[in-house]
Amino acid sequence: MTHDIELTVNGVAHSVSVEPRKTLLSVLRDQLHMTGTKEGCSTGDCGACTVILDGKTVTSCLVLGVEADGSDVTTIEGIATCEELHPVQEAIVEKGGVQCGFCTAGIIVSSVALLNENPKPTPDQIRRGLAGNLCRCTGYTKVIEAVTDAAKKIKKPARRKVSKRK
Ligand code: FES
Ligand code: FES
Repeated sequence: MTHDIELTVNGVAHSVSVEPRKTLLSVLRDQLHMTGTKEGCSTGDCGACTVILDGKTVTSCLVLGVEADGSDVTTIEGIATCEELHPVQEAIVEKGGVQCGFCTAGIIVSSVALLNENPKPTPDQIRRGLAGNLCRCTGYTKVIEAVTDAAKKIKKPARRKVSKRK
């Protein structure tokens, strides 16, 4: 048995029939074919599946698809425009803050959410903002430097406030 849900992903409205046990992560990847959001641990520990749900970052492996009915979702596919990368993406490339890339989508989404909430974070605030995003190859120093650089490049304030969902 499935439930029909409606959600907006990166500004585009979708109607999807989802099984009650399917996660938002599964809906995004398997039904909407947005595979930029990665599945690492499936237990809410690694942050690879981070998306912004109604203005708050969530680990989409812990959110049921039916819970997202009526929601607004931003995934990594919605961070850049067709013309240009987001300053966080540019800075991570420039700083060499990516190796295998498996964690990168989640790190970028969390970083963008952090900068939307706090446009001039200190290194400690960046560390705290990315505490839920694990990286097993690059480490964190270059990522923190990249987010610091991106903050300097972003001239105007955030389009909207976002915060961590507890
Ligand atoms: S896959 Fe969701 S937190 Fe790891
Ligand atoms: S770049 Fe490989 S896990 Fe982070």
